[in-house]
Amino acid sequence: MAEAIVLRAHGGPETLRIDQVDVGEPGPGELRIRQTAVGINYHDVYVRSGLYQTLALPGIPGIEAVGVVTATGPETAGFAVGDRIGYITGKYGAYASVRVLPARLALSLPEAIDDRLAATVLLKGLTAAMLVRWVHRIEPGMTVLVHAAAGGVGRLLCQWAAALGATVIGTAGTESKRDQALAAGCAHAILYREVDFVADVMRITGGRGVDVVYDGVGKDTFDGSLAALATCGHLVNFGQASGPVEPLAIPRLAAKSASVTRPIIFHYTAEPGPLRDMAAAVFAAFAAGTLSAEAGQAFPLAEAGRAHTLLESRAATGPLILIPEDGDDDA
Ligand SMILES: NC(=O)c1ccc[n+]([C@@H]2O[C@H](COP(=O)([O-])OP(=O)(O)OC[C@H]3O[C@@H](n4cnc5c(N)ncnc54)[C@H](OP(=O)(O)O)[C@@H]3O)[C@@H](O)[C@H]2O)c1
Repeated sequence: MAEAIVLRAHGGPETLRIDQVDVGEPGPGELRIRQTAVGINYHDVYVRSGLYQTLALPGIPGIEAVGVVTATGPETAGFAVGDRIGYITGKYGAYASVRVLPARLALSLPEAIDDRLAATVLLKGLTAAMLVRWVHRIEPGMTVLVHAAAGGVGRLLCQWAAALGATVIGTAGTESKRDQALAAGCAHAILYREVDFVADVMRITGGRGVDVVYDGVGKDTFDGSLAALATCGHLVNFGQASGPVEPLAIPRLAAKSASVTRPIIFHYTAEPGPLRDMAAAVFAAFAAGTLSAEAGQAFPLAEAGRAHTLLESRAATGPLILIPEDGDDDA
């Protein structure tokens, strides 16, 4: 048996309730993992609320965690009991103390990145890698706009784009988040709840606009993001923390020969080769100091609802993680 958050109906944070679940033995190609830290991502909010109907109910949410292998099924060469691994998955099940996992998802973690830090940055770092290297390859001299620049993905994205030689303009919801965005490598940070960010971007870029906008805010920023692009610019909509984007009429793009993409990390990491290449890029970026982060604020697994409330309130001062069972938490 294991402890897990079982979602039985879509709704608010109160729908995240702890329960006992059967785990069972790993089958062919599977590992059993005792999880030590679980990442919280904005995706989890969409799944809980029902904006994404991608988890069959009742079901265990959560798309990343870190832990130790406690049993190996047949056909799992290369893995052994005691291995420390991390994973991301689009098939859910991470909000649990113990789980069975396909071995092809398991990533060995560098010693320098401890369990809590790994659960804080694995999915967010892979997303940043996808955005700056695969979706829109950042080159020196580019100008980039990153929304929610102090957020979990946002900070890593700003650090990486700046290290690749881009001039990064960030948006942030509060003064303290603006300071975090500047510390993450933004050359300029805009308080987008107080001022018109498009006007500020145009002022900063001398009327040219930016080469690429990375927009994980969605509904509230999408139109402005399009307006902030330079000619032939690229709007990458990779999330919708403020709500889903309205349908887009393609002819609107013609005014600037603009392009719009809507990438999802699980498509870029579906094959083991690319997954391992992207993970290696993230770990190398941490080793080189290109990326840096603190472990997220920890909540007991049973208090996942409280963590969701904080994430949705926009008041979190950094990423959040869950600690199963008897682990030490900060809350
Ligand atoms: N496509 C992919 O594969 C992929 C993978 C990972 C993450 N994502 C997306 O990346 C984005 C960031 O994810 P994250 O987990 O790192 O979260 P996060 O950025 O730490 O949190 C979301 C941030 O969005 C901003 N925001 C703006 N309007 C908001 C609203 N109405 N309600 C709540 N927040 C609002 C807030 O920052 P301010 O207060 O500064 O405005 C908030 O802190 C999300 O949209 C997520 O879905 C996409």
